[in-house]
Amino acid sequence: MKVINKVEELTVELNIFRSKGLSIGFVPTMGALHQGHLSLIETAGKENDLVVMSIFVNPTQFNNSEDLKKYPRDLNKDIELIKKSACSIVFAPDEKDIYPDENSKKSDFNFGLLTKIMEGKFRPSHFDGVAMVVKRLFEIVQPSKAYFGQKDIQQFLVINHLNNHYLADLKITLVKCPIIREPDGLAMSSRNLLLNDDSRKSAGLIAKTLIQAKENYKSFSVEELKKWVIDNINKDTKLKVEYFELVNDPDLEEIKIWDKNKKILACIAVFAGSIRLIDNIYFN
Ligand code: PAF
Repeated sequence: MKVINKVEELTVELNIFRSKGLSIGFVPTMGALHQGHLSLIETAGKENDLVVMSIFVNPTQFNNSEDLKKYPRDLNKDIELIKKSACSIVFAPDEKDIYPDENSKKSDFNFGLLTKIMEGKFRPSHFDGVAMVVKRLFEIVQPSKAYFGQKDIQQFLVINHLNNHYLADLKITLVKCPIIREPDGLAMSSRNLLLNDDSRKSAGLIAKTLIQAKENYKSFSVEELKKWVIDNINKDTKLKVEYFELVNDPDLEEIKIWDKNKKILACIAVFAGSIRLIDNIYFN
């Protein structure tokens, strides 16, 4: 496995592959890798001739500088974890390679409702930062397919819009991969590393509640279900729900009544102590 820091070096390397007609699978990440990332590499490895993973903690998607500061970073540990995987190239650029000047940090995307609710509402400008870096990375890597986890489902839908409306010429296929969970159900996330013992113990309740909601939703009205989910999680004093929404995939319109023709997605953000966790589940 090769670690490349410079865009020019990566471009030369990938052009050689492309000239041989080989397909490139791309897994963009911010490091702090875990089993969830390994599963993205594994899927990419089965579907492509070459897998490239990027590791770049993107400053423009953090709307809170404290959050950016405490984001876990350990490139050597990340490399150790994936060195036996199907990943052949790790692209770990510096900020200057991704954002050469201040102008490159400006964006003019319009994602409509997709970025106005849930994460978009509570983390203003977050998705502009995500779209900016993904656009730049897609243009550099120009993969055949790019792999993202369902855990960040709203991010996936925003990137899907970006890909279809702003980057259609690149003809990249996006692949949504299932959420990988800990034995107690907690969705794997780089942020889990930041949980203290008490919050970690409590955090399993988030997924358990979502699963119970999925199993029983037809016995409740939409409003009753929302209240039950929020109360059930908040009754654990270590947890505090920030939002729980029932929305339609792919447009994220609010679900007001159970409609079997809609793909119902339940999305949640919860503070476990001071750490903010997100999760989601499809009901049908
Ligand atoms: O999901 C992530 O790790 C990041 O948001 C992404 C897509 C790599 C962009 O920085």
